[in-house]
Amino acid sequence: RLDVTETFHNIAFPGHLHTQESLHYAVNFQFQDTDTLIVSYPKSGTTWMQQILTLLYSQGDETVSRTVPNWARAPWLEQYYFPKVLEMLKEPRIITTHLPYHLLAPVLEGSKAKVIYVARNPKDVAVSFYHFHKMANFLPDPKSFEEFLEHFLEGTVNYGSWFDHVKGWTSSGRNNLNFLYITYEEMWEDLEGSLEKISTFLHRPLMLGDMQKIQKHCTFTSMSKNPMVNYTTVDKEIMDHSKGQFMRKGKVGDWKSTFTPEQNQRFENIFSSKMKNSHLKFTWYI
Ligand code: PPS
Repeated sequence: RLDVTETFHNIAFPGHLHTQESLHYAVNFQFQDTDTLIVSYPKSGTTWMQQILTLLYSQGDETVSRTVPNWARAPWLEQYYFPKVLEMLKEPRIITTHLPYHLLAPVLEGSKAKVIYVARNPKDVAVSFYHFHKMANFLPDPKSFEEFLEHFLEGTVNYGSWFDHVKGWTSSGRNNLNFLYITYEEMWEDLEGSLEKISTFLHRPLMLGDMQKIQKHCTFTSMSKNPMVNYTTVDKEIMDHSKGQFMRKGKVGDWKSTFTPEQNQRFENIFSSKMKNSHLKFTWYI
């Protein structure tokens, strides 16, 4: 069976990609000041940011983005193959993680590594995650959306609670980090402005013509067709593309076609109580 989980600090991780050893390795990792770390809760725009950073660092040259799979050019810190892939990464290294803040805070403290946190409307995250569970055989069968949503709201899904993830990474502790908070919605509404913002944060000014080249390769249409980011090269036993696409819809507010009014109300109630002390601006509620 592929869908076994590996529990670490009370959070379930897919056992297909994680071991106790790999998770321990991750929380003890020594970052270099030149590293860029993409942090996200699953289904929040991780792959999109991996593609954006690859293109920003190559100044729009598409070669790497077309020849190296996303997990090999921006590997997940906590996954078992990470140390092997790391040996092949050139500086500046792009590293990805879905780990919660409290597990990485000790190793990030004092580090000048650049941290980019990507957040997405949790309702869209829940829908995207639900569909991903249907096609990814290393995740448990989600059963109905109703049942999946309950687990999502309880935080008993793989990678833990969305609320804890966002609250942790945006808590005051991260003030000491070299940190950028950006949302999927912001990138969707204004890709150009988002690229400017990210390039400024990375101290990588865009040269004449770079912007257009980068944009061209990180649109949803382009990425859907790129096997290096759309996961079509993965074995059918692991991800079954006859059951859905990794690059599924790429929309903002698609939750509306799935949530019932009752589910929405329940979500809103839990959201307001869990997020009441958060100072975040949730652009998706405007
Ligand atoms: S994962 O498994 O955690 O790495 O998934 P992640 O990459 O975070 O999220 C996948 C969702 O992001 C959408 N996506 C995009 N949307 C718009 N534009 C671009 N370029 C793009 N690239 C990826 C992808 O379609 C998944 O969302 P849904 O809503 O399921 O379509």
